[in-house]
Amino acid sequence: RAEADPLRPRFHFVSPAGWLNDPNGVSQWNGTYHLFYQYNPEGAFHHSIQWGHATSTDLVTWTDQPVALSPSAGPDSEGCWSGVLVNDGGTPTLVYSGRANERELPCVAVGSPDLLSWTKVPENPVITAPPAGVGITAYRDHCVWREGTTWRQLVGSGIRGRGGTAFLYESTNLRSWTYVGPLFIGDASQGEPTDTDWTGTMWECVDLFRTGEGSLGSAHEDGAPDVLVFSAWDDGDTRHPLYWTGRYDGDTYAPEELHRLDYGGRYFYAPQSFLDDAGRRIMFGWLQEGRTDAAMVEAGWSGVMSLPRVTALAEDGTLRFSPVPELEKLRTNHLHFGGRVLVGGGAPAVTGVSGNQLDLELEVQLAPGSALRLGVLGTSEGTETTVIELSRASEDSAGGTLRLDRTHSSLDPTVDAEDKSGPIPIPEGRVHLRVLVDRSAVEIFANGKPLTARVYPTLGGQHVTLAASAGTVRLLSLDTWTMRDIFTGARPLFP
Ligand code: FRU
Repeated sequence: RAEADPLRPRFHFVSPAGWLNDPNGVSQWNGTYHLFYQYNPEGAFHHSIQWGHATSTDLVTWTDQPVALSPSAGPDSEGCWSGVLVNDGGTPTLVYSGRANERELPCVAVGSPDLLSWTKVPENPVITAPPAGVGITAYRDHCVWREGTTWRQLVGSGIRGRGGTAFLYESTNLRSWTYVGPLFIGDASQGEPTDTDWTGTMWECVDLFRTGEGSLGSAHEDGAPDVLVFSAWDDGDTRHPLYWTGRYDGDTYAPEELHRLDYGGRYFYAPQSFLDDAGRRIMFGWLQEGRTDAAMVEAGWSGVMSLPRVTALAEDGTLRFSPVPELEKLRTNHLHFGGRVLVGGGAPAVTGVSGNQLDLELEVQLAPGSALRLGVLGTSEGTETTVIELSRASEDSAGGTLRLDRTHSSLDPTVDAEDKSGPIPIPEGRVHLRVLVDRSAVEIFANGKPLTARVYPTLGGQHVTLAASAGTVRLLSLDTWTMRDIFTGARPLFP
C-alpha cells in the first residue's frame, strides 16, 4: 500500500513501511555509511520504536539491513529511542535511550564487526536516574565523544522554570558515568513559544561538534566555533532545530549566537551529524509529515529521511549546507537554459520543465526590491502549485528572504499549509538556488540556507514556472534534471 502512494518520495530514504522518525547512529565504519533510524514497521504511527538500519557505499542508494535494536524486557521494554554510534576501541557501540515506565534512560549495546547484530549490555540502564534535585522536563537522546582516554556524553533535557539544557557526563568505559553538570541552561522566558527561534523547555537530540581544526576538548587553534545543535521542544507545539555557535571549554559551553538551522522548522527535525572519512561533516534530519495522523495510517507509511547535507562554517560564522555531491549520480535528462531577464508583473514563464522528481539549480541576480517566484508541482492552470520565493530587500542590498508558500500546494484542506521563511545573505544581489523536489518532499538551499518542507498535491501537477513578482530578476542560468529512483524492486519488511 505504501508503495502505491504517489506522494511517497523516490530518491529520499524512506523506511520499508510504517513509521520513521529521527536519524540515529549516523556514521561511516570501515568505509561503509550507516544510517539507523527510529522505526515502527507495524504501522505509520509512533509506538514501540525500534532501530531500523540501512547501509550505503555512496550516501545515495541504501541497502536495508535487519532491525538493529528492538524493545525487550527491561529498561527498553517500551522503545529504543534515539542515540548514536561510537567506536569503542574497534567495537561498534550504540548509546541510546531505553524507554520503560514512560521514561527514558541511557542504555548501551555492542555490535558484531559487521554492525548487523547487537547485544544490549547487562549494565543497562547505564545511568539509573536523571541528576537528583533538579526538576526536569524530560531526559533523553545522546551525543558521545572521546577526549583522550575519557568518554564524554550529553543527554538532552530541560530544567523546569528555566529552559532546555544538556547534562554532561564522563566515563572511562561507556558503562558507568559520572555526572559533571549542565553544559549550559537555555532561557525559555526569552521569546514566545510561537517564535521560530524560541529555545523551548526541552532540547531533543543534542549534537555538539567542532567546526574548525582539532577535536572537541582540544585547544582552539583557530577562531572556529563549536556548534551545539538541538531540537527545541515544548509540550505545547514547539518543534524546530536550532544551533548555538560558541565555545566548549571542558565542562561548560559559552554560547555566542543562536541560529535557526532550517527554515522549515519541524520539517527538518532531530538532525544528527558525523564526520566522514573525507573529513566532511554530514547531517541528516527527519522530514516529518504535514498530514493528519489518520492520513498517515491510511497511507501506510510516514516520515522521510533528508538527503545527506554537507555542513560547513561560512565566513560570517554561521553554517551553510549543501546536498552531498554524490547525489548528482541520480541526475538524468539534463536541460540547460541560458540567461534571460524577468520583469515583475509578467505572467509566469512556463519553462517546459516538468516532473515530480527534480533537481533544479539556478543562478540569479536580484535587483534591490525584486523577487523571483519559482513554481513547482504545478498544474497547467496553476490550481495547485508550490511557490518558492526569493526576494531581495530594497534597503539592505546584501540580504533578503527565502520563502515557501504552500497556500496553493494542495486542494486537501487537512494538510499543513503554513508559510515558511527566513533570511538569506544575498551578496551583490547573487543567489545560488538549489531545489530538490521528490513528490511530497521539498529541500531548498538558497546561498546555503536550507528550507525543508512537505507538500501534498492532489492533482499530480508537474509544471515548473518562473516569474519575477517584483522588480527585475536576471536569470543567469537554470539547469534541471530528473532524479532517478533509489529503490528498485521489493523491500522486504524484515530483511
Ligand atoms: C525526537 C524524539 C527524541 C526521541 C525520539 C523517539 O523526534 O522525540 O527525543 O528519542 O524522537 O522516537
